[in-house]
Amino acid sequence: MAVKGHLLDVDDLRREDLERILETARSFSEVLRRPIKKVPSLRGKTVVNLFYEPSTRTRLSFEVAAKRLSADVLNFTASASSVEKGESLKDTALTLRAMGVDAVIIRHPVAGAPCLLRRWLDVTVINAGDGMHAHPTQALLDLFTMRERLGDMEGATIAYVGDILHSRVARSGMKACRAAGMRVVAVAPPTLMPPAVPDYVEVSHSFDAVIPRCDVIYMLRIQKERQQEARFPSLEEYARLYQLDKERLRKAKPGVVVMHPGPMNRGVEISSEVADAPHAAITAQVSAGVAVRMAVLFLLLGGGEGGGVLA
Ligand code: NCD
Repeated sequence: MAVKGHLLDVDDLRREDLERILETARSFSEVLRRPIKKVPSLRGKTVVNLFYEPSTRTRLSFEVAAKRLSADVLNFTASASSVEKGESLKDTALTLRAMGVDAVIIRHPVAGAPCLLRRWLDVTVINAGDGMHAHPTQALLDLFTMRERLGDMEGATIAYVGDILHSRVARSGMKACRAAGMRVVAVAPPTLMPPAVPDYVEVSHSFDAVIPRCDVIYMLRIQKERQQEARFPSLEEYARLYQLDKERLRKAKPGVVVMHPGPMNRGVEISSEVADAPHAAITAQVSAGVAVRMAVLFLLLGGGEGGGVLA
């Protein structure tokens, strides 16, 4: 891959890298449907989950992915470690290096932390979400899910809706969708729209106006933990204009795909009925997460040479 053993954001990937990851993920999704879901590709490799922020899906999914590839997995959660005693990221990195790990998967509240880690460590670094900056494996699993549902994505329209300002999912996702030839619309109230968006992104403040032309509607969580001040009058008011509910879904194309990275605030950005409707690909996203992260680990850690099932 072009990324030389790291995955910090989707800009690191050329179109052929994207294709290769999605293809490899498809083979792994077949492995995951077998009765024995484990392959020996990364036997003898050690992967560390270094998580400085809460996470359910992403951490579990990386852990399952690494285990399905037969790697050894260490889980490091900031609150249960010396970080609470003030250990710096650099010292933690040096400790991991001294232990001889092969890859570090890092989630951190500060944008750029994975990049610093890459400088200090000579092992594979994978960004599992850094501040409001990037979340490349989420973008890849979203592309995988869209391709499964839509087939060819060239020319399809996706709207990212909601708290775009604070969303690393939207930042990486928009780049990945663009690379796949999609049209990208950003829908949010002015207070939740970043001051600058890339020139290929169309901006709209009216969800109702955008819905009928979407092939994919991607709902984002209101990130209360990242909002220093109130960005809208009330959650009710926000929901009235930007919640994807049954009435709004009725105005969408019949085959529209509804996505959300989780965790969802049911009743805020998405109604419970819509979250559980057949249009929703939200659990498919979670399943795709394991296959895509297996592909990323396999390709970055050079499992190919080891003669795994895909070799
Ligand atoms: C997202 C994250 O943490 O960036 N969730 C995830 O990775 N599944 C989105 C969010 O927290 O809203």
